[in-house]
Amino acid sequence: MKVGIGCDHGGIVLKNACIEALKELNIEYVDYGTYTEDSVDYPDYAEKVAKAVLGGEVDKGILLCGTGIGISIAANKFRGIRCAHITNVFSAKASSEHNNANIIAMGGRITTSEEAKEMVLAFFSTPYAGGRHQTRLDKITEIEKNYL
Ligand code: RB5
Repeated sequence: MKVGIGCDHGGIVLKNACIEALKELNIEYVDYGTYTEDSVDYPDYAEKVAKAVLGGEVDKGILLCGTGIGISIAANKFRGIRCAHITNVFSAKASSEHNNANIIAMGGRITTSEEAKEMVLAFFSTPYAGGRHQTRLDKITEIEKNYL
């Protein structure tokens, strides 16, 4: 398992917390930036990580911005990306178990580093359940084909 991680200036503190969690899990990662607190545009980092996931450079992604909202909206514009904006451990687990999310997004202005680490641990230790959930994901793929 290799994880791509990216953020804007509003998510940089959480990015470092997520990297610590990945290290604890012995999960390899690629850091796509940003690397400083200078203001940047979150769609640029959503694009880097979404392309890395879709291209197979990494298996899953983590995106961070101020709220997690903008960067998840941008990532979900890529066909095949299921980016889940998560705010607690329950949604972290469900985004893997039910939605087979290939990217999770969190917000540095609404989530603490400790909460983010717990969510990363929960997401990566919860398998996708398949079954009835796959029927629903297939319908999302149909929507992508028909409307994206
Ligand atoms: C940047 O100021 C902020 O808008 C961004 O990090 C994010 O919260 C957008 O959804």
